[in-house]
Amino acid sequence: MKIAGTPYRTIWRADAAVEIIDQTSLPHGFVTRRLATMEDAAHAIRSMQVRGAPLIGATAAYGLCLALERDPDSLEAAYKTLLATRPTAVNLRWALDDMARVLRPLAGARRIEAAWKRAAESCDEDVALCESIGRHGLKLIEQVKHRPVNILTHCNAGWLACVDWGTALAPIYMAHDAGIPVHVWVDETRPRNQGAYLTSWELKSHGVPHTVIVDNAGGHLMQRGQVDMVIVGTDRVTANGDVANKIGTYLKALAAKDNDVPFFVALPGPTIDWTMDDGRDIEIEERAPEEVTRIAGVQVVPEGVKAANPGFDVTPARLVTALITERGVCPASREGLLSLYPEQRAKARA
Ligand code: MRU
Repeated sequence: MKIAGTPYRTIWRADAAVEIIDQTSLPHGFVTRRLATMEDAAHAIRSMQVRGAPLIGATAAYGLCLALERDPDSLEAAYKTLLATRPTAVNLRWALDDMARVLRPLAGARRIEAAWKRAAESCDEDVALCESIGRHGLKLIEQVKHRPVNILTHCNAGWLACVDWGTALAPIYMAHDAGIPVHVWVDETRPRNQGAYLTSWELKSHGVPHTVIVDNAGGHLMQRGQVDMVIVGTDRVTANGDVANKIGTYLKALAAKDNDVPFFVALPGPTIDWTMDDGRDIEIEERAPEEVTRIAGVQVVPEGVKAANPGFDVTPARLVTALITERGVCPASREGLLSLYPEQRAKARA
């Protein structure tokens, strides 16, 4: 995507280092940061300088490159460190496994060279996957009769969460670029405000009309007929179609069901966890209570009050109208997913 006319991705190689857009500075400042070591990459993921399932995976892949630059024999240790950075997005494990498969048979300089090559390829692949998700999602937006098409989204599943394009936002960018009037309701997404800080920054930069709402407003807007569809991203879809995404997604899905509003989830193939059959088994990241008890550094609860901060929730497949993938749109079910990914039949448990 372009920022002030300059095309950017969220992560790119810079000699023997990597550069990222530091998302903790947005929307107030556009800051790029250099990651020179594997520890820098792990820190960037943990501190959410980079975030969003596909970008977490891409950063981990480059993190392995940085580790191998220092020591080509550090593959297994670096794999372990990077895998432990965040627990919910399965793209992290997917990217590390993908890299390890290519790198384990190699040694020394050949291993380093192959690592950089595979990390770059996998970033290019992510861009292509997201572009394809956009094309499939666009068809769903085109089917809505009413104009503008009002779409509600939660958290940030735009290009900042991926390498480019985004998942949930890709169809929206394509609809806007095709001249279809769209308007996006952007959930602010407490506690880290990815909607308010990041999604609105992205949409504003691209000129897409949107309105930021508090997280509890979505149900009300749906009751009033002001939402034509919901599109969200996801950190992990289990083989039966359950969807883990940013905390609050489940409540939007319940409200959508109650109001007959289509609820779509956009995802690339690497977000599907074929080893898991039930969303309730997904590890949910528990984040620091201070993200809840403080807003912009100011304490908002009485001193000493406890806070819980689960980062994600699981929307059961029965609440999902359809999944939008790079291979097409399918029901959120084992058979739906397998119809698009038949090569996984052997892996998916009966
Ligand atoms: O905690 P975050 O900001 O990494 O959470 C991101 C999300 O929940 C996104 O919706 C998800 O990763 C999909 S990104 C295409």
